[in-house]
Amino acid sequence: MQNTCGAFGGSLWNANTPTCFKDIAFADDYTREDLADYANNPNLTGNIILEGGYGSGKSTIAQIIANERLADSLSVFEINGEVWSDDTLTKITNTYAWATANSSKAVIIINEVDRLKDKQFKLRDFLDKHAQRLLVIMTTNHLANIDGSIVDRSDVYYVRGFTPQKAVGIAQNVLQRHGYTFLDVDLEKLFARRLVGDEQELSLRQIGRIVDKLAMQNAPNPPKRGNSLRLVK
Ligand SMILES: Nc1ncnc2c1ncn2[C@@H]1O[C@H](COP(=O)(O)OP(=O)(O)O)[C@@H](O)[C@H]1O
Ligand SMILES: [Mg+2]
Repeated sequence: MQNTCGAFGGSLWNANTPTCFKDIAFADDYTREDLADYANNPNLTGNIILEGGYGSGKSTIAQIIANERLADSLSVFEINGEVWSDDTLTKITNTYAWATANSSKAVIIINEVDRLKDKQFKLRDFLDKHAQRLLVIMTTNHLANIDGSIVDRSDVYYVRGFTPQKAVGIAQNVLQRHGYTFLDVDLEKLFARRLVGDEQELSLRQIGRIVDKLAMQNAPNPPKRGNSLRLVK
């Protein structure tokens, strides 16, 4: 058994993380279409909340939307709600001012926004003051923990996890690109076995772990050497 994962810094899956919107895997096409509008129109502003289970791809989607809209990374600010501090709003305001001075719309990403707890009200005041002047993308695993006043000011998109059948497509994409061949039916069984209790969907992290394990245990056949590559006469 040969381990080919080393060539990818330990994870074939991570080496294939999407970097542009068209490569992002979505469990449903409606969410893809709705969010594509934000990636494709740098002037589209507002507040959006990406809600979904752990590892469904919310933070990755937010980052890619920001990258596709703005070549200028100084017009993007990203933070996790857990580390929000007193000067965070100042940093966000500075990002907004920079983007505006450069004739673009800032993108502010607040991951796990529910962790802001009481500070959500300061965020709400900021959203009111800057309404429709920038794009604020918030992510959460628990929509119920976000204050209703913020939810009411936002469009909510549900980013679902992946059924075993959908997971097969995503896994095959990575595996086949690297020369691995597995039957869909075998992969689907593997994914279905990973569901616990009444779970119906897998996260991208769960799918990634299975892909990496398969890659480690089943190295593809090395490409056949053509005569022209032979160095010894
Ligand atoms: N479409 C995708 N295809 C493959 N891997 C992805 C994709 N989207 C995200 N990932 C990877 O899956 C993991 C979880 O994604 P992340 O965006 O952090 O999820 P969430 O924010 O919903 O918890 C990350 O390691 C990320 O690189
Ligand atoms: Mg996240």
